[in-house]
Amino acid sequence: MDFSSFQFLFSIFLLLSFFPFSFSEIRFSEIRNDDRPIVPFDQFGFTHNGRLELNVSKISLSNSNLDLSKVGFFLCTLDSWLHVLQQLEDGEIRCALQSDLVKSVYTFNSLNGKDSFNTLYNETDSDQYNLVFANCHPQQLKVTMDVNSAMYNLDGKSNVRDYLSAVFFIKND
Ligand SMILES: *[C@@H]1O[C@H](CO)[C@@H](O)[C@H](O)[C@H]1NC(C)=O
Ligand SMILES: *[C@@H]1O[C@H](CO)[C@@H](O)[C@H](O)[C@H]1NC(C)=O
Repeated sequence: MDFSSFQFLFSIFLLLSFFPFSFSEIRFSEIRNDDRPIVPFDQFGFTHNGRLELNVSKISLSNSNLDLSKVGFFLCTLDSWLHVLQQLEDGEIRCALQSDLVKSVYTFNSLNGKDSFNTLYNETDSDQYNLVFANCHPQQLKVTMDVNSAMYNLDGKSNVRDYLSAVFFIKND
C-alpha cells in the first residue's frame, strides 16, 4: 500500500474516533457515484443483544466486471480498525473485507444482479462498533446507492428496541 492511501485510511480512523456520541441510530444516506475506498456510516454501542438492520436500495455500479466480494459493508471496532490498517500496510490483506478482524455484514457478490437488499445482523459481542462500507476497487468502481440503517439493542426479556447506544470508555492502558 502506498503512503497516500495509508494516510487516507488513517484519517478515517481519526474521523471514526471523533464521531459524536450518538443516541438514536436510524439513518438514511445517499451515496452518489462514490469511489472512496472506505465510507464510514455510523457508530453504535452494542450490548450482547445488538441488531443492525441494513436496507440498501437503488444500487448502481459503474462497472459490473469486478470481484464484488471486495465491495460491501462490515462492522468493526476502532481497535480492530487499527489492526486492519496494520494488516493492509504489511500486505497481509489487500482489502479490509478480507480481514478476519472485521465482521462482514454484506458483500455485493451476493446481489447477483439485484439492485437492493435488506439484511439483519445480530451482534452478540458487546462493544462499540462502526458500520463501514469498503470499495476495494476505488479507481475502477463508482457506487451509487440509498442506505437505510438502524442500529439498536434488544432489551432483555421484553425484546423492546433500545436506540440508546451502550456507553464504552476508552481504556487508558
Ligand atoms: C437474529 O435474531 C432474530 C431474532 O432473535 C432471528 O429471527 C434471526 O434469524 C437472527 N438472524 C441471524 C442472521 O442470526
Ligand atoms: C428494513 O426493511 C424491513 C423490511 O421491509 C423493514 O421492516 C425495516 O423497518 C427496514 N429498516 C430500515 C432501517 O429501513
